[in-house]
Amino acid sequence: MSLLTQSPAWKALEAHQKIMVLRHMRELFELDPLRFEKFSLHLNGILLDYSKNLITEETVLLLLALAEQADIKRWAEKMFSGEKINTSENRAALHTALRNPSRKALNLDGKNIMQEVQKNLDHMRRFSDAVRSGNAMGHSGKPFTDVVNIGIGGSYLGPLMASEALKPYGSPYLRLHFVSNVDGAHLAETIKPLNPESTLFIVASKSFTTQETLLNANSARQWLLARLPGEAAAKHFVAISANPKQAAKFGIPANHVFEMWDWVGGRYSLWSAIGLPVAISIGMDNFNELLAGANLMDEHFLSAPLEKNMPVILALLGIWYNNFFGAETYAVLPYDQYLRYLPVYLQQLEMESNGKRMNRAGEPVDYATAPIIWGDAGTNGQHTFYQLMYQGTRLIPADFLAACEAHNPLNEHHAVLLSHFFAQSEALMQGRTESEIKAELGAQGVTGEKPEQWAKHETFTGNQPNNAILFRKLDPKTLGSLIALYEHKVFVEGVIWNINSFDQWGVEVGKRLAARIRSELSSSGTAGSHDASTNGLINYYKLNN
Ligand code: F6P
Repeated sequence: MSLLTQSPAWKALEAHQKIMVLRHMRELFELDPLRFEKFSLHLNGILLDYSKNLITEETVLLLLALAEQADIKRWAEKMFSGEKINTSENRAALHTALRNPSRKALNLDGKNIMQEVQKNLDHMRRFSDAVRSGNAMGHSGKPFTDVVNIGIGGSYLGPLMASEALKPYGSPYLRLHFVSNVDGAHLAETIKPLNPESTLFIVASKSFTTQETLLNANSARQWLLARLPGEAAAKHFVAISANPKQAAKFGIPANHVFEMWDWVGGRYSLWSAIGLPVAISIGMDNFNELLAGANLMDEHFLSAPLEKNMPVILALLGIWYNNFFGAETYAVLPYDQYLRYLPVYLQQLEMESNGKRMNRAGEPVDYATAPIIWGDAGTNGQHTFYQLMYQGTRLIPADFLAACEAHNPLNEHHAVLLSHFFAQSEALMQGRTESEIKAELGAQGVTGEKPEQWAKHETFTGNQPNNAILFRKLDPKTLGSLIALYEHKVFVEGVIWNINSFDQWGVEVGKRLAARIRSELSSSGTAGSHDASTNGLINYYKLNN
């Protein structure tokens, strides 16, 4: 038994769950007209309404005791000050320093990293300005029209999600493309319509050893050099890496290499030069706003008391359902087309960070860690998986996100979109009883046996917990705050679960196995060193490719 599950705070929550599982949120709202005021928080134009959760004031107090016990504030200070909290890799996790460029000094291993951060931001500004203005040109003197980011995981999802979210701020003269998958189709289909003379490739890889990225980068270079002279590559390729030596070996000139550091985790790297495609698209002033928004959330996280702290509250609610109600998944439901990549971005953030069964000391845990994160943009999800949320058998906590102001005020689209946002959030909480349905059908003039029959099928219990995150407008600053909100939520959960949220050893094992099998695919003879299934699959492939 772990210290966590034996702790008084944990035991108290287990006992409290036995009471709360019998209650319905409908009833909680009826009993307390101030529930919305009590259970909502505001920051930087962002409203977090967490009143539609299976909680009372007592629940919140018990959850806060869990956060107190885990010493969240001390852990946050350790992270912000550069302590090497990623102990299995002996690294700091200092992504927060990247969005605080006005800070003059932060020493790590005898170096003032803030100078490096500033140098890198200046480099990003010079380069993104040049690309945007057309001063940076391809080999034949044409300005760039297309920018292809080649990277995977954190070197892909952050820039993809953020550039899509901030498309209304993007340059109309530049098109961004992202190639991540090692499936040749991804690169081939992306470059097919492009003109090599006006295409810029960004090779984004912290390690510069990631197989998928290097293979894609090599094939992209081959494509370019089949159409332009050899020396063109230097103008058409830039790299972002913490391994500049490898980038140089690839043939990228030093002034085209943007630095990264081992103290920034891949999935936390959007704020570093990995954000270059975003800066090229929206301009460096807007990119700085993104950083400022994240910094605002950082300050809030550091200074707000636990009970008024947005990331802490979100994390505790996540833990409430994950660990005490046995919820296995968590839905992210942005009612915003520009945020459609948020679910997949959060998948990496939460599942790669907290999908661990070992605690910090390498001992197995006896409680659930990260849930499965999934979701889709509203209203699409309503026509695919909401049925299961309404009438299925599972408890599915969810976050609904939406902007009050639309970037595209087309007819009544935004009002309709938001009516769905409010309606789904309400209905999932309220449910519908048979008598309500019968009364409604009666009012519509439906008579006979039908109301009785239909009500049986239409009824659902509701009581599905959900947070609503409503913000004024999806601008760079708001986006920065929202991403940092989730980063710190994940951090708080990791601290409470006593796991290291900043390593990813499981992914490394998969990479090594794939490398071994790769050589077998080209060798003659049949595979025989694996289990019967893997041998059979490899041999079937070899026979048929
Ligand atoms: O998926 C594993 C991972 O190590 C991620 O953490 C990282 O974001 C991704 O691979 C890409 O790594 P790199 O930037 O080093 O190519």
